[in-house]
Amino acid sequence: MNEDIEKAKEKFGLLLEGQLKRITSMKAQGDYIDYNELKPIIIGIVGGDGIGPTITSNAQEVLEFLLQEEISSGKVKFKEIEGLTIENRAQELKAIPEDILQELKKCHVILKGPTTTPREGDKWPNIESANVAMRKELDLFANVRPVEVPEENINWTFFRENTEGAYALGSEGINVNDDLAVDFKVTTTEGAYRIIKAAFEYADKNDLKRLTVVTKANVVKTTDGKFLNIAREVAADYPDIEWDDWYIDIMTAKLVDPKRRSEFEVFVLPNLYGDILTDEAAEFQGGVGTAGSANIGKKHAMFEAIHGSAPRMVEEGRAKYADPSSITRAGAMLLNHINYPGQAEKLKMALDICGQYEQKMKVTGRDTGVTGEEFAHYIMETLQTENLAEKYKKLKNKQK
Ligand code: IPM
Ligand code: MG
Repeated sequence: MNEDIEKAKEKFGLLLEGQLKRITSMKAQGDYIDYNELKPIIIGIVGGDGIGPTITSNAQEVLEFLLQEEISSGKVKFKEIEGLTIENRAQELKAIPEDILQELKKCHVILKGPTTTPREGDKWPNIESANVAMRKELDLFANVRPVEVPEENINWTFFRENTEGAYALGSEGINVNDDLAVDFKVTTTEGAYRIIKAAFEYADKNDLKRLTVVTKANVVKTTDGKFLNIAREVAADYPDIEWDDWYIDIMTAKLVDPKRRSEFEVFVLPNLYGDILTDEAAEFQGGVGTAGSANIGKKHAMFEAIHGSAPRMVEEGRAKYADPSSITRAGAMLLNHINYPGQAEKLKMALDICGQYEQKMKVTGRDTGVTGEEFAHYIMETLQTENLAEKYKKLKNKQK
């Protein structure tokens, strides 16, 4: 028995060393990159698994259309990165094969299709999720997920911490012996500070007055307690923003309370709570398939759809009918992030027009609807509408 404990202690020591190193490199990182000063801004396109390559190339076509001028002037460059597939990852037993990781690090921003996350009992070896690894490797600490349901007056932005919490050592728990399994949850001062600061800055810049911190600090006292304490400190610098703190259980309930939910604006929360709450939130907007997700760090950023890779669609030969809306919406977030807010806004309007208000054609996932490519062309056609903003307003009001 003592031997089991000694072994576990040794492993725990190594994990702590790793986390302390991570803190050092977080602190050494400096400020956010300035896209205005870059030429070219390199946009990496990563297809991923299943329907990923198809929908990602549909979205790429739309982005290239919107950035025609920037591409010809050399301000923006697209870089396709192949091979981040579950087959390659399984073969190399790596969440992200080394050569692909090097390519990813050369990109300033990345548009990423879904990547399969294996779990025990699957046909794949139980390697770490490529998403989680990419977030860690590129230090993409802010997972920003907006949810909008105009007719319900819902306009939420979630700032989910993306590199720590239950995920930091999610693949490195310890089976002390056959009877005892232990996982770890991590909060660092720097890690909590930077995500909370990012959320307050966002609220401040966008003139939002309400910020909600979500933890379970009454039970998970050390790590969530630290998160909440740091929130309290950061909040002191923003006297105009009204902030409150909620526990994750009651927060989950309040999101389904129609009388209360529209009061919330910006949320900031540790990793796992954010994972769960953003799936619930996206459901109000039409499901996780409709949401886009931004993973932002100081030096890199990655934009993705929240949905999975739908291997069954590929097996049944239906990949070309997969809906590229979510990844294209992630593309709009990417445009906004690299300082093209005008193009981002147009793309969002076109997506709403095509997907909700006008619906000249629909993607159904089968041959009963159009292909992702046809839908991408519909979006591009819509983008060329002379008075897009006016058309958008009209159609939106009609819907109401
Ligand atoms: C998400 C996903 C991932 C996560 C999975 C695929 C590892 O659920 O992006 O929310 O848990 O973060
Ligand atoms: Mg999730």
